[in-house]
Amino acid sequence: SYASMPAPAAEIESAYAAALRSVPAYLDSHGMEPIGVAPLREVIARRYRERGLPTDADQIMVTSGAQHALRLLLGVLTDAGDRVIVDHPTYPNALEAIRRHGARPVVVPVRPEGGADAGWDLEGLRSAARQTAARMAFLIPDFHSPTGLCMGAQGRAELVRIAQETRMTLVVDETMVDLWLDTPPPPAVASYGADRSVVTVGSTGKSLWGGLRVGWIRADRSLITRLVGARSAVDLGTPVMEQLAAAHLLGDVEDLLERRRGQLRRRRAAMLGALDEHLPDWKYTVGPGGMSLWVRMPTPVSTALAATAPNHGVVLAAGPRFGVEGAFERFLRLPYAREVDEVRRAVASVASAYDALARGRDLAEPHLVV
Ligand SMILES: Cc1ncc(COP(=O)(O)O)c(C=O)c1O
Repeated sequence: SYASMPAPAAEIESAYAAALRSVPAYLDSHGMEPIGVAPLREVIARRYRERGLPTDADQIMVTSGAQHALRLLLGVLTDAGDRVIVDHPTYPNALEAIRRHGARPVVVPVRPEGGADAGWDLEGLRSAARQTAARMAFLIPDFHSPTGLCMGAQGRAELVRIAQETRMTLVVDETMVDLWLDTPPPPAVASYGADRSVVTVGSTGKSLWGGLRVGWIRADRSLITRLVGARSAVDLGTPVMEQLAAAHLLGDVEDLLERRRGQLRRRRAAMLGALDEHLPDWKYTVGPGGMSLWVRMPTPVSTALAATAPNHGVVLAAGPRFGVEGAFERFLRLPYAREVDEVRRAVASVASAYDALARGRDLAEPHLVV
């Protein structure tokens, strides 16, 4: 159920050692940094510039992860009852955040099947934005979770046009952007339009380590100011040590990211091989990146399968967690974030649970999905 890799231990340890060396410079202040420490904001801004997107450090606000960023953005961009457009399927905790904020998710399909036409239904998105007057859209165009699909350059330009036409703020979740496995993504969605229509969310959570709890928001300066104002109702800043460790990691991260991508490529290959061997009639499209496959089963038994799977040694997130109104009973997200052997064993366990389903088993406790 976790689409999340264990930490790169040696790099995390040396990042914290470096943070310990830098922290004295902060000890004579109160230490609360609602916008984030300067070295981290600068390194994040530099990484956008290296991707061809001019960015200053004052367009960056550090958050305690992408989930926190989404919650802050919902607070500033939407009121209770507002509509928020989301991909369908999408990241379950985003749906949860939207609902708990009192906003209403409006879903637009992301279809993995369909070959060259696979992906986002942008005409559907335009109609949904017009019909519902959505104030915000939360989308994952870069190695979409859970399908791994990536929106092409033309789609990105069109998406920004739709946002501008409908006066909707696009919140683009780039949590997975560094986890391209086959081809790097096109330029960031934000590089296709004026800063006001596109807000970008980033994180170290998937590419480096979820335990850092460091993410960020890239937005125009006036929105950053509003976010900083609103933040004090939620928290007073991300811990300085974690920010300094993240700054150290991101300062020189390309080799580490390439190693992480290499691990994921091997793990994905292991999963594809195991699926061929154990579940040959399950269908899937392999996206060019990310950490999971979105598989279509011959029968709509996802919830029952997730309930029985722990009895076979594997914990699953059922398809309906990734959608609204009971959709995706035929689908399952299979993360390939664990080591090759574990991935193989997990698929064999899923196959054995699928096999045993007809006989019925105990229901499992719900598990956190990340
Ligand atoms: C698409 C997506 N967005 C956001 C998050 C949350 O990220 P973070 O751990 O930075 O809060 C995750 C990870 O679980 C994710 O997969």
